[in-house]
This record gives sequence, C-alpha cells and structure tokens, in this order.
Amino acid sequence: MADRIPEPRLQQTIAIIGCGDVGSTLAYTLIQNPICSEVLLVDPKTELLEAQVRDLGDATYGGRSATRIRAGTHKEAGQADIVVVTAGAKQKTGESRISLLTRNLHILSSIFTDMAPISPHTILMLVANPVDILTHFARKLSGLPESQVLGTGTSLDSARLKGILAKKADVAASSINAYVLGEHGDSQFIAWSSATIGTSPFSLACPNLLSAAIKREVSEHTRGAAGAIIAAKGCTAYGIGNVAASLCKYILYDSRTVRPLSFYQPALGCCLSMPAVIGRKGIVRPVPVKLDETEQKELEDCARGLREVIAGAEE
Ligand code: 2OP
Repeated sequence: MADRIPEPRLQQTIAIIGCGDVGSTLAYTLIQNPICSEVLLVDPKTELLEAQVRDLGDATYGGRSATRIRAGTHKEAGQADIVVVTAGAKQKTGESRISLLTRNLHILSSIFTDMAPISPHTILMLVANPVDILTHFARKLSGLPESQVLGTGTSLDSARLKGILAKKADVAASSINAYVLGEHGDSQFIAWSSATIGTSPFSLACPNLLSAAIKREVSEHTRGAAGAIIAAKGCTAYGIGNVAASLCKYILYDSRTVRPLSFYQPALGCCLSMPAVIGRKGIVRPVPVKLDETEQKELEDCARGLREVIAGAEE
C-alpha cells in the first residue's frame, strides 16, 4: 500500500487579546516554543497590531517555528482553542492592581461583546489585572463552564517565591515546592506550612528560613517584586509571558500539571488562586492543600477583601 500521508496535525489556535508588552511577549514565547499552529493577535490599535504581527512574523521565518502569527478579529478569537486576555490598563508606579478594576472591567465587557458567540470549547485565560476580579466577572460575561475560565493568578508570584527561596536555600528553584495563594495582589499569602525542598518540609531542610524575620522579608520581596520592576522599566512582561505560555502548553497538551491558579472557589464566593490540575478542559480539579491556622485566616481575609471589591463593582 502506498505510504499513507499522515493526517495534518490538529490545527490549534491561541488568541491573544491585547498586543502590548505582555501580549506580544506571550506571542513571542509561543513562537519560540511552538505548541500551536496559529497565534492570533487581536487589538483595536490597528497600527500597533500590524506592526507587532510583522515584527513577530519575522521571528517565524528563520525555520525554527512552524507557528503562524496573524492579526485577527474578536469574532475569530471567540472560536480559538484558548483565548488569553492581556488587554487593559497597566499599573503605574505605586498603583495597586485593584485600582485598575473600573477601566479594565469596562474593556473586558467590550471584549466579550465583540467576541460573542464564544465557542463552548474555548478555554479562557485572564492575565490582565486585577486578575482575580476579572476572572470572576469573565465567568459571567463568557457564559463558559466554570472549569474553562481561569486566571494566571499567583502562578507568577509562586515562581518569584521559588526564585527567592532558591537563593536563600542554595538549591535549584525547580527543587522547591512552595505556593503563594489567594490574591495576585496585596492580600496574597505564602503557604509556608506545605512548602518543601525536594520532599523535605522547610522545617526539616531549612529551619533557619522559617524565622519570623526571614518569612517577613521573603513575603515582602515576593509581594513587591512587580512594583519594583514597574518602577524601573514601566511594566513587567517576561515573567507573566512565560507563565501564560506554560499554562497554554499544559492546556493544549492536557499535561495535568498542578499549578496555583485563579478560579472560582464556591466555599469562598470569589476567584482566587489555589492549587489545581490544569489540562485540556482547563481546571481539571482542585488539589486540596493543608493550611495551618495562620494561613487559613489569611485565606479568609483575602477572600473577604475580594468579595467586597466584587460587591462594589456590581453596585
Ligand atoms: C505582575 O505581577 C504586573 O501583575 C503583574 O508582574
């Protein structure tokens, strides 16, 4: 029998809404680490959009990447396998993520109006801030099943935490399992009681890092990381771009990786980051994590604060 020509690979599209610093960095990361056949960039600033597509396109002609990059419409984005929302105002120096809510909720609402009807199979990933609140509203605006709406949440903060702890413990960041949970913002907290180096709890492997002074220093450094970068260069992009690209890979490959992600927490009445298995259907299932008394209170305080912001936005 003549060699059967293999079926063309499944065509998979990732749509990125917003082609500013974060959106274009995500697109570039997806080109350099090809996981899909097409990256669709969508942005109302048509001149910037065309320029980003041409510049990014130049990165695909070297033969390294089979990923196609093109400008698209919101309507086309609504039919993509994954839609990543990076569009929105970004923090200025000293500004909190929550202060962006009114502007970015308005932008989010118009995005969904323009995307409708969104494919029932699309996985929606929120990156724009305040990501937990926008994830909460995106569930309602999109009409998608809960599991298909998630935010990058404290995945980025947890990466920063691992980098800080790696230096202090003199081990590779990949050997540290530690989560920042709750809000991707000021009320985030570190789940110290479940943190390990390899499979050893910090209390055994590095008890010196659990002093009150060091925990406070690490917590402040992690929470303040974005602000310090923004003050110096005006934005963050590479950290969040890498996180979003990794999450896209876990989704398209159905990898069942565990990450702290922002998604709806029924017991808390809001979206915030807790550990979950991520795969082709988005949030496959939550992964329960044991919190000590202090951490449980921090979680409840965090959720209360987020619910108050949501209530204010719904007025
Ligand atoms: C960050 O944490 C600004 O939320 C963005 O880098």
